Amino acid sequence: MTLSAASRSEIQGYKARYPEPRSAVLPSLWVVQHELGYLPVPAMREIAGILGLEPSEVQAVATFYSMFLDKPAGEHSVVVCRNVSCALRGADELAAHVERTLGCPSGGTTSDGQFTWESTVECLGACGGAPAIQVDHRFHENVTPEVMDAILGRSRSQPAPSVGGESEAASTKQRGEPKTAPRAKRTSRPKRAHIDPGDL
Ligand code: FES
Repeated sequence: MTLSAASRSEIQGYKARYPEPRSAVLPSLWVVQHELGYLPVPAMREIAGILGLEPSEVQAVATFYSMFLDKPAGEHSVVVCRNVSCALRGADELAAHVERTLGCPSGGTTSDGQFTWESTVECLGACGGAPAIQVDHRFHENVTPEVMDAILGRSRSQPAPSVGGESEAASTKQRGEPKTAPRAKRTSRPKRAHIDPGDL
């Protein structure tokens, strides 16, 4: 058995909440990712067992969404959008800066385990503030290399947001997504932060 009794109980609660057990797959995946930091195959089998589904039904959902991780990652997650609007506003240079600063390519994790970063192939949905990034599932817009350095430095000095953790920036707005936390024990909700260099 891979999951704690608390996680199994939470998943059973989701199963009871919905008429179709398949509706409980997404929240159950979050439960596991919150506990373990990623989704190992045995844990997905365990979800399937609790929900009475085939393991392939659970894995199909987990592999469809990029926010679910199939391997352990760093303490903090960094996503740099390089889609059209962001590319036109310097995202490629920003991504190159992140790669130099963190010392690993997109998809990699820093040697100290602090950061896993990636550049997306899809728009983050914050084009009006391009270039946009997400750090620990919080949005930051109009990001320059200097702003990025400040954000990374601040993240380095503090743990990833925890339950009920509030915004790290003055101006935030929830995006209405489920609580998201790709690292272990993290249950922060996505925030949108508007940061101006003058705020740093
Ligand atoms: S293109 Fe980057 S947020 Fe839309």
